[in-house]
Amino acid sequence: METIKGLKRTRRCGEFTVADVGSTVTVMGWTQAYRNLGGVIFVDLRDRSGILQIVFNGEDNSEMFDKAYTIRNEFVLAVTGEIVNRAPEIVNDKLPTGAIELKATELRILSKSETPPIYIEENSNVREDVRLKYRYLDLRRPDMVRLMELRHRVCKLARDYYDENGFLEIETPILVKSTPEGARDYLVPSRVHPGSFYALPQSPQLYKQLLMVSGMDRYFQIAKCFRDEDLRADRQPEFTQIDLEMSFVNEEDVMTMNEGFMKKIFKEVLGKDLQTPFRRIPYKEAMDRFGSDKPDTRFGLELVDLSEIVKDCEFKVFADTIKNGGSVRAINLKGGNSLSRRDLDGLVEFVKTYKAKGLAWIVVGENELRSSIAKFFKQEEIDAILSAMNAEVGDAVLIVADKDQVVYDALGALRLELAKRFNLIPEGSYDLLWVTEFPQFEYSEEEDRYVAKHHPFTMPMEEDIELLETEPQNVRAKAYDMVFNGNEVGGGSIRINNTELQAKMFKALGFTEESANERFGFLLEAFKYGTPPHGGMAYGLDRLVMLLAGRDSIRDVIAFPKVKDASEVMSAAPGAVDEKQLRELCIKLELPEENK
Ligand code: AMO
Ligand code: AMP
Repeated sequence: METIKGLKRTRRCGEFTVADVGSTVTVMGWTQAYRNLGGVIFVDLRDRSGILQIVFNGEDNSEMFDKAYTIRNEFVLAVTGEIVNRAPEIVNDKLPTGAIELKATELRILSKSETPPIYIEENSNVREDVRLKYRYLDLRRPDMVRLMELRHRVCKLARDYYDENGFLEIETPILVKSTPEGARDYLVPSRVHPGSFYALPQSPQLYKQLLMVSGMDRYFQIAKCFRDEDLRADRQPEFTQIDLEMSFVNEEDVMTMNEGFMKKIFKEVLGKDLQTPFRRIPYKEAMDRFGSDKPDTRFGLELVDLSEIVKDCEFKVFADTIKNGGSVRAINLKGGNSLSRRDLDGLVEFVKTYKAKGLAWIVVGENELRSSIAKFFKQEEIDAILSAMNAEVGDAVLIVADKDQVVYDALGALRLELAKRFNLIPEGSYDLLWVTEFPQFEYSEEEDRYVAKHHPFTMPMEEDIELLETEPQNVRAKAYDMVFNGNEVGGGSIRINNTELQAKMFKALGFTEESANERFGFLLEAFKYGTPPHGGMAYGLDRLVMLLAGRDSIRDVIAFPKVKDASEVMSAAPGAVDEKQLRELCIKLELPEENK
């Protein structure tokens, strides 16, 4: 095999233009394609930047021509020659380098390649598991290169922006103490302390707060986070945050600072002017109108509460639901008249996956109504429902009765599903907003106690502090989520900086003083020595890049992502380890039958 000894690459393949015509240059890259036209061989040479056409002419140099004859796809070449204009009839307007070519005078084959198992081309529709198995080849594809470039741009802009605003980039440890609260921890056994474990951080939360106690004033980090939770299209077990924290601030300060960041990203990455400040929608309003705490407001289909209208109706399902503290809500699908009976039955099944017990519908036809529930209602009641829904001829009213949370989940999901099916989201539109005033707690059926909705260090709203002991369900937090096209792209809060209030919070969460001390003692101790008011947030970097790229899986913007069962296809991690490694860690395995 030949080497690059004595050669120096002039520039990347895609970076030559007509301005280079006449110069002698050296390029290096991969063979995208080759065509043998008898006396002439054309090779498309590719690298990260694009493609340059190379011409080997048999008459110029027969030894070189014979070597060029052996070139196959993905061979790595170094070629020296002169940049010349292409003959007018072969100018390719689709390629940036389409008006020129390299007339080769020297060829070296630096590396051969077997036939690659996937096509290296834009938007190839190879199955994802195959792409992931050969991810290093998949990443050669131009669309993947652009995604990696975009991710790099966003990281670079984050570093620039937070630096310009006085933030220090500080690393926090990856081997930390396990402080379970939130997702499940990944554990790492300690060899030096047999029987003891580190956890991988779910986020740098405690450390960044300690940095505020240290007086670092403004911190940021592009931080790896690890959470052992079930994967989804927008969730990975290891993912990256743009994480930040600020001292002496309130919610508005944090939100304003981060609107500035998004404005910069939009301008420099997408060339778009983003309007600030973003809309702020209190949690309660988001749920009531959109059935979601990450509402996509690029289309209507808002929820309407029909409880008042139907509370005394004869349809027992509705009347009883309301008596039992639930609600009856609906959305109006304009043009829903086109739904067949079968489509409607499909929608009933759809909401059932969100635990709804059914979906009632009223379709308003030209001369008559089609409805699954009309027989239970008086005409005035139907009229009142249609009027509350602003329903006109051609519309379909879709109704769910249940506990509030089930109604929100079912109609919130149905809203998104219908928007997709009926193409209600304008192509290329952007929607950024904050959801504010989150509940401080949510009830965990699994643990039979209130757990922190954000985390236990989140400051309650002043006017709600007195409800901590009596009505925890009504306490709102100084917490905010940034929502981008219906995705939670970031979230944060103002933190508690007062030891007494923190103790109250732990109590409300069901911790004893000892259990709180055992887990978070180091933070509580630190807070005794002068803690500035502080707050911050973290973006999901993967989600942010995914949304900027208009993709719908974060795997597309991660170089080496994991798949649904949390494994990494290419390296086959996780894997078994040697008996010796386990012995050193004093670990004995007791596997379930099916894994033996
Ligand atoms: P939170 O848990 O909301 O907050 O995480 C912040 C953001 O990280 C992204 N995210 C994820 N992305 C991919 N895969 C996952 N498994 C995953 N989990 C979360 C989301 C989310 O908005 N320490 C706090 C922040 C703070 O209070 O400052 C925190 O981690 O986009
Ligand atoms: P049934 O009397 O059970 O046949 O229900 C009549 C209609 O009401 C059907 O279209 C059901 O899907 C619908 N339905 C049943 N339960 C609910 C509910 N909890 N919320 C909304 N619609 C329901």
